Amino acid sequence: MVHRHLLVAASLPMALAFATTPAAAQAPETTPSIVETMRTLSGKQKARPSGAKGQCFTGSFVPTAEAKNLSKSPVFAKTSTVVARLSVGGGNPKVMDANKAVNRGFSFRIDPGGAGQTEFVMVNAPINFVKSPEQMLEFLKVRLPGADGKPQADKIKAFTDANPETTGQGRYLASKPVVGSWVGVNYWGIHPYTLTNAAGAKQLVKFKMAPLGGEVGLTDEEAKAKPADFLVDELKGRIEKKQPAGFDMIAIMGKAGDEKTNATQLWDGEDARPTVKLGTLTITALEKNETCDNAIFDPTTLADGLAGPDDPLFIQRQPAYAISIGERL
Ligand code: HEM
Repeated sequence: MVHRHLLVAASLPMALAFATTPAAAQAPETTPSIVETMRTLSGKQKARPSGAKGQCFTGSFVPTAEAKNLSKSPVFAKTSTVVARLSVGGGNPKVMDANKAVNRGFSFRIDPGGAGQTEFVMVNAPINFVKSPEQMLEFLKVRLPGADGKPQADKIKAFTDANPETTGQGRYLASKPVVGSWVGVNYWGIHPYTLTNAAGAKQLVKFKMAPLGGEVGLTDEEAKAKPADFLVDELKGRIEKKQPAGFDMIAIMGKAGDEKTNATQLWDGEDARPTVKLGTLTITALEKNETCDNAIFDPTTLADGLAGPDDPLFIQRQPAYAISIGERL
């Protein structure tokens, strides 16, 4: 099946691709520069400039009865098929799987059929490293090499001093052990979403994918001993041995007044908030990478009953990913 985002990226002029989302109206000018700078930093390769290394899988999603009470979305009405890409962060497709400095990514498409297709693009941290497209562009630009080809440490320091919230995600990752399994770590959607049920009641939530078999962390010693590409083999082994290979989808409940447009911030007491289990996503088979690479995972593709925030950072992800696929294919 040719995915519709591939069609957007490949066959429409860029202005039209932007026109597919209201997003573009808010901050269209930063999107091409952000993607261009990401691509420059990762060497203009034919690979994603973020989450460059990864593997495609297929699976299923089984919703809970509670999910139906919160959202009328077709993804919570019945069992759906799933296409998922698990990745290692950054723009280096040869990065060691045990690298501690980059995040792990989890992109997935839940497809109940018809108009219900829904996509999430999550990472293994509850917060993002920037709060706006403008801050993202600056964050990337100060990391470009200077005229002498060397990193500009003074520029990075000045930016970091002026934008201390941009260190939060890195500090979170540094506080955790090296990830020992793609299905052994929590992933978060980060942005707040609004669920709407059949009666029209709305509930603000954040999404978290909690590993069925618990977290798997490696000591630095254990990490050093791991082969460069151990994550695929580890997950293949779990599937073959019928060990836990999936996640509970958890809704962290929001309340009136919660921040919706600063992805660098946790909500007040977020870790202790009430949660509702929305379903279980199981990874069942390895899939050829083409299936994931020939399309984008677009977090703004959400079925009825699910909506993302009115946050330029969230809205810019669709046009950014659409530009990126056009450059990397
Ligand atoms: C909370 C915010 C964000 C998170 C959690 C996030 C996470 C991710 C992940 C996990 C991937 C790998 C996707 C895959 O496996 O196919 C990715 C790719 C990418 N991200 Fe983001 N991202 C965020 C915001 C943004 C923003 C605001 C931009 C640019 C405006 C951006 C630009 C990109 C690009 C260009 C790619 C490569 C896409 C492709 O070639 O298919 N991201 N991101």
